[in-house]
Amino acid sequence: MFADRVLSGMRPTGKLHLGHYHGVIKNWTSLQNEHECLFMVADWHALTTNYDEVGIIEKSIWDMVIDWLAAGVDPEKATIFIQSKVPQHAELHLALSMVTPLGWLERVPTYKDQIDKLSHKDLTTYGFLGYPLLQAADILIYKAGRVPVGEDQVPHIELTREVARRFNHLYGREPNFEELAKAAVKKMGKAGKEFDQLRVRYLQDGDGEALLKARELLGASQNLGAIDGERLLGYLENKGKIILPEAEALLTEASKMPGLDGQKMSKSYGNTITMREEPAAVSKKIRAMPTDPARVRRTDAGDPAKCPVWQLHQVYTDSATREWVQAGCTSAGIGCLECKQPVIEGVLKEQQPMFERAQQYLDNPQLVKDIVADGCARAGKIAQDTMREVREAMGLGY
Ligand code: TRP
Ligand code: SF4
Repeated sequence: MFADRVLSGMRPTGKLHLGHYHGVIKNWTSLQNEHECLFMVADWHALTTNYDEVGIIEKSIWDMVIDWLAAGVDPEKATIFIQSKVPQHAELHLALSMVTPLGWLERVPTYKDQIDKLSHKDLTTYGFLGYPLLQAADILIYKAGRVPVGEDQVPHIELTREVARRFNHLYGREPNFEELAKAAVKKMGKAGKEFDQLRVRYLQDGDGEALLKARELLGASQNLGAIDGERLLGYLENKGKIILPEAEALLTEASKMPGLDGQKMSKSYGNTITMREEPAAVSKKIRAMPTDPARVRRTDAGDPAKCPVWQLHQVYTDSATREWVQAGCTSAGIGCLECKQPVIEGVLKEQQPMFERAQQYLDNPQLVKDIVADGCARAGKIAQDTMREVREAMGLGY
């Protein structure tokens, strides 16, 4: 059922690096085994900040999708699609804009942050203010229950929940709601009795477990259509119909992936290794990494805690190797190039299957286009259904 559905997205910013892999995409490749997953290229979002350099967006899209596939996102399991190719995102964004107070958007912390940070650009645009509302539309159009994101995106998920609540409050009211809900409970047959009991336990005793169980019952019921399902989701909590359910952020553990200089790996710091970086370049970059400044000469002892290479050991080598580093560094028993070698090997080993998976797509770019076209069609079907309901709820069902 949709509560289980996962949606996430990424702006097309060009080739991805190992920070993206460890921070986001590795997580996607495991989610796709447990949930219905939709992974979106957020090209409209790219335009909100890059409206003046549109030339790079298209190439970035294909590079990024190939990186996803290379990392193991599986088009047989997950739906890969492009935001602007499913026009209902834009349509829902407009619909939601009718009911979203300006203050909610102005208060989102990323808004002023980004305007300051990207001060070379004029971001005092209507589109940029709407960035998190567009993201809300991305999520709500699929009624996704789970949204894997990093810490910085949590305010956007909060806004999504607020907007959904407001929408349901405004448009989920039906004059004969109680009767319709009770009729829907009857349709559930035997499970309906249990549903009623769980509802009472939740409403009277605040039993959260009962709420979850009741939702499960709804999800499992074969006799309810989508509309009755929404009615009962709302009835369960003594609200009206829940047309747009509230999503949860699935917090991706902050990526510990350090860059070549020990800061977080990020394109803007120029400290990245791309996911499909040539092996020779990987070697060269790691061999050029700064180390503990105390190790001026090979005979000077060092301290791994003061060295960015040590941070990469945490990601790429086993505990035996790390013991060897600790002992060798603090006694000047090993040289820094020696110390870097197992890290280089670790990175190359991780990248090997990515190169292999990417090759067929590089040889035949049409394959990637077909995967995306197929994903857009699948996503579009869900989005159309939601939009139909939204139009009806807003009195635009004619
Ligand atoms: N704003 C997100 C980011 O910068 C990208 C994004 C767009 C997204 N739409 C989304 C993420 C919907 C999750 C869900 O990372
Ligand atoms: Fe860093 Fe390793 Fe050199 Fe120590 S030996 S300073 S941990 S690269």
